[in-house]
Amino acid sequence: MYTVIVYHYNGIMKIVHAAMIGDVIGEPGLIALEENLPRIVQENSIDFTVANGENIADGFGMTEAGLQRMLACGVDAVTSGNHVWEKREFWPALGGNYPLLRPANYYGDSPGRGWISIEKAGISWAVINVQGREFMTPIDCPFRCCDSIIETFDATAPLHVIIVDFHAESSREKEALGYYLDGRAALFAGTHTHVQTADERILPKGTAYITDLGMTGISNSVIGMDIKICLERTRTQVPYHMEPAACQQKNDAAVQGIIAEIDADTGKAISVRRIN
Ligand SMILES: [Fe+2]
Ligand SMILES: [Fe+2]
Repeated sequence: MYTVIVYHYNGIMKIVHAAMIGDVIGEPGLIALEENLPRIVQENSIDFTVANGENIADGFGMTEAGLQRMLACGVDAVTSGNHVWEKREFWPALGGNYPLLRPANYYGDSPGRGWISIEKAGISWAVINVQGREFMTPIDCPFRCCDSIIETFDATAPLHVIIVDFHAESSREKEALGYYLDGRAALFAGTHTHVQTADERILPKGTAYITDLGMTGISNSVIGMDIKICLERTRTQVPYHMEPAACQQKNDAAVQGIIAEIDADTGKAISVRRIN
């Protein structure tokens, strides 16, 4: 991996790059990721990539084969969300050795883990996955959950770069937790809505922020799913089973997310930009 070392007046500043990729939707999303992520990583000198995989299994939940495909094309840590529980046969993988997370604020004994630390490019990367409570299942408090995880890091080995995927519906809750973790996380991104927001910025204390990363899948869709089915479902309020939108033509799919430049010495972000 390519790392830029910049010398400046008070020592050595080690600049690293991290990418966060929005929810990968079904087979078209996996194909889009496989076809584009290796190039995105190379062109942008990405040292570490996090992607949300909660929708890889036909839009709902995860499969081990799909997870392995995400890891094989360059994802370093896979986060998830409310849909991670959808496929019961996938649950054993949550407790396995994969760099795979479910939201940390599900009750303590729930299958899987909510944060992970990984050594890569000479950096200790910590990834935390939490889930919102507004318009969602009322699980444990994501604010207190992040506090207790970060306190654990402070008490043990100091970690260089903290990345947070906040899987939530409410923009208010996402911005609030973003500011709550400002200066503690290097990157903070919302997932779950599948619609990319245009509010990426560096918060006052140095956290790269976006309310929602968007998704990886077919652009001509309703949140990555088939338009016709979603339209009928929404129009009639009959819960017709949704399916991922199919690829109609070349360049139909998008990989959406952010790339941030981070000062590894301070664990704070220097710049952030959207990818689509
Ligand atoms: Fe999702
Ligand atoms: Fe979700």
